[in-house]
Amino acid sequence: MVNNYKKDFKILEKDFVYLDSGATNQHPQKVLKSVLSYYEKENANPHRGSYSLSVKATNVFEGGREKVAKFLNCKSSNEIVFTKNATESLNLIAHGFEETLKKGDEIVLSILEHHSMIVPFQRLAQKTGANLKYMYLADYNIDPKEIESKITKNTKIVGISLVSNVLGSITPVETIIKKAHSVGAQVVVDISQSIAHMPFDVQKTNADFVVFSGHKMFAPLGIGVLYGKLELLNNMPPFLLGGDMIEYVYEDHATWAEVPHKFEAGTQNVGGVVGLAAAIDYIESIGYKNIQKQESEVFEYAYNQLKKLKFLKVYVPSKKTERMSVLSFNISGVHAHDTASILDMENIFVRAGNHCAQPLLRYLGVDSTCRASFSIYNTKEDVDKLVKALKFAYQKFSKYIKE
Ligand code: ALA
Repeated sequence: MVNNYKKDFKILEKDFVYLDSGATNQHPQKVLKSVLSYYEKENANPHRGSYSLSVKATNVFEGGREKVAKFLNCKSSNEIVFTKNATESLNLIAHGFEETLKKGDEIVLSILEHHSMIVPFQRLAQKTGANLKYMYLADYNIDPKEIESKITKNTKIVGISLVSNVLGSITPVETIIKKAHSVGAQVVVDISQSIAHMPFDVQKTNADFVVFSGHKMFAPLGIGVLYGKLELLNNMPPFLLGGDMIEYVYEDHATWAEVPHKFEAGTQNVGGVVGLAAAIDYIESIGYKNIQKQESEVFEYAYNQLKKLKFLKVYVPSKKTERMSVLSFNISGVHAHDTASILDMENIFVRAGNHCAQPLLRYLGVDSTCRASFSIYNTKEDVDKLVKALKFAYQKFSKYIKE
């Protein structure tokens, strides 16, 4: 039995099927109302004024930090830094290693990674002389043999997504963290694709850094999170410099505020934090258990329906326990953009292209895929519409397809 959560999302009253939640989730009315209410009743610049409205804005902002810290089971809310998105969080981390990494050190990523993980660490490797290595795949997930062979005594950083934004693979993050820690490396985990679907516990997993974008979990765009173990954040240099991240400023030098403020330069996105806190409330009001039960029923239904279409190639791990929320596919012989255009004409919205993961697509030997990505509001009826539209697209293209 699948509940209908569409009613919580005004935009979904419209006559389309939204299957691009991997790019950005839609927002429940409760989140939108909380942001509006903040701007109507509480808006001022936090940490700046001593008047009561500014103090209120500060309390709202810091209360949001505490909520996020509890949500991820942090030891202290000082371990939460607000950023613009996961990309900014990852750039901040990579920048933080510039002074300590040296020639011959190794950075290990998986080939599943998004450009936001790859490119900042590429530049870090270029600047420091460190080597960048990749763990490759077996059955569309990280090959366990690669974990053993690629993470070595020279490894200093491992970067990994919990769920691939292209293949929906649930990666063995805990195994990777254990292996990385056994050689003294630190692990950066991107949970952007998983946080709307499953919980993440920073203490249980023992991750060193964790990043995500709020908009992938029902919060507004423009608010991101960086979790770092306190001692690691304390030892890292600031990333952006300016107001509010300083302790004292002299004519020729400055000293830094304590973590997390050291990493939060300039006026912060309080409205975004309010929305993020409301998004956490929304997830908690349904409960991850219920989210997972519902989503897995719809997702597995979609997987089985798409697998039945002989003209379709589907890129997803074969083990049910290793996949979630994202289904990449191509009509054999048809460019992904052409397929997505026909689906669009049928009011079905999927992403087509390289999904900001060019090294992965090159490794898979394709230049693009269509990607249907699911959220709590998708139903089996959405899947039926997708299947019908795919059959229609195949029928349109079949006379041009070379066998
Ligand atoms: N990272 C987002 C996606 O996978 C934009 O679509």
